[in-house]
Parts: sequence; structure tokens; C-alpha cells
Amino acid sequence: MAALHRVAHRGYSAVAPENTLPAFAAGVLAGATFIEFDVRTTADGVPVVIHDRTVDRTTDGSGKVWELTLDEIARLDAGSWFSPAYAGIGVPRLSEVLELLHPHAVLAEEAEPAGVTPSVAPRVELLLEIKPPATLEQVKVILGQVADAGLLGRTVVQSFDPAIVRLAGEAAPDVRRGLLRDGFDTSQVEVAGELGVSYCNPSMTAVLGSPETVAALADAGVAVMPWTANDIALWPDLVEAGVAGLITDHTGELTGWSAGRQKVSAGASSSSA
Ligand code: G3P
Ligand code: CA
Repeated sequence: MAALHRVAHRGYSAVAPENTLPAFAAGVLAGATFIEFDVRTTADGVPVVIHDRTVDRTTDGSGKVWELTLDEIARLDAGSWFSPAYAGIGVPRLSEVLELLHPHAVLAEEAEPAGVTPSVAPRVELLLEIKPPATLEQVKVILGQVADAGLLGRTVVQSFDPAIVRLAGEAAPDVRRGLLRDGFDTSQVEVAGELGVSYCNPSMTAVLGSPETVAALADAGVAVMPWTANDIALWPDLVEAGVAGLITDHTGELTGWSAGRQKVSAGASSSSA
């Protein structure tokens, strides 16, 4: 049975405020194999991790991310909107996220110097989404930080904007790339080939409506991980459609469900042996 990636969408965002350090730590602890997060750049050129164009929904501030300086963003509370238990949690800089994930993301041979026992360390990868607008200079700064952290080989850079996917390839030719999609049909195979992406990640509904596109992409060596797969009842159909992973807010539930699947599959093969 093919392994299924468990992608913590904005971290384990069902239990902690999205795109914050507690959400990423919770994702690792809950068994994610990928941690997904969104990167934008402040007015003074610092990559920060936040989903929306403005800080209004997820912090106590207001304004567009790219019109605020790092100092202004660093003062914001990004936890209270979710729960008083998270009051005072900030919008993280990309560098802080990389530092948090590094011990869990480095490969075994690099893990010991980082203080992690290789046999027990969880192994996550990073699914780093760059939100528009983003310039080549900004993309270079983002991927430069990932490279400096030694995590380029453990990262997939994705965007809804094909131009940003191209910029990522320009800034770091070897980094794996992904294209996010709303719609989904077999024409995506050509688009994916032209962009040189390893992943094409559409909405869950799009995948369920076009399993033949999942198969055509797989034949072309492009994996599909739909978002945002929060309806547990649909997980079997998505797996049946051939997805490589599920991007979900419910990381822990997905880990438990995947373990159950594996147990059933192992039981079936041992009883048929
Ligand atoms: O990784 C897929 C997903 O994050 C795309 O949608 O809006 O949550 O960034 P959004
Ligand atoms: Ca995202």
C-alpha cells in the first residue's frame, strides 16, 4: 500500500492558531509528514508566515502585510483570535519557523549534531507556499533563508501563481516546486510539464471531479495533494483517486486514520500469505 503524506495545513490549525509556532510544533507532534505554511514579505523585506493579504483576520492589527514593517508586525497578537490560551503568540518570521522545524526536518545523518536522536526523530518536510505579490528579489530572500537553514532538499515551494513558481525555479533551480490550482483537468499535465513541477495541488472537490487527471499527472511523474481535506468521510475516495497526500487542518486525525488503514492492509496481507 502506497504511503500517504499527512500535510499539516498552516500547521495543525484545528488545535492552534494557523501559521504560528505552536501550530507547527503541534503538527510535528501529531505525526505530519509535511508542514504547510504561507510566506509573505513585509514592507522592509523580511519574510513572515501569514496567510491573508492583511493582518486583520488573524491578529489584533490591521493593514496589508507588505505595507507593514517587521517591527509593526512583530507587535501583533496572532493567537487571541483563536483562543485566549494563545494570547501573545506572534506572527512568526520565516527564519523562526525554519529554526523550529530544522531538528525535525533534517535527514538522519545531519540530525545528531542538531541534538535529535535519528531513530526517534520525526521526519517532516516543508510545503512552503509563496503568496502573491512576490518579486524575484523577495523569492530569492525566502529561498536563501531555506538554503542557509540547510532545508532546501526537504522543501517543496508552491504557489497559486505560475509566475511565482517560475521565480522559485530561477532562484533555486534544484528546489522541488508545486503548482496550486482551483480548477483541474488533463490540461494540467502540460502546464505542470512546462513549469517543471513535482506537485500539482488542487482543491479536494476538483480531485473528486477528475480522478483521470490525478492518474495522468501520476503517469507524468507529478504527485497530487488536495486541499483542504477536512471532511474525514471523503478521505477514502480521495485515496482511491490516487492522491499522494492530504492537506488538512486535522493532522492528528489523519495520522490515526492512516495508521488504521495500514493495520488493515497488513492484516489482509498476512492472512492471505
Ligand atoms: O497548500 C494548499 C493550501 O494551503 C492552499 O490554500 O488558501 O489555504 O493557502 P490556502
Ligand atoms: Ca497555503
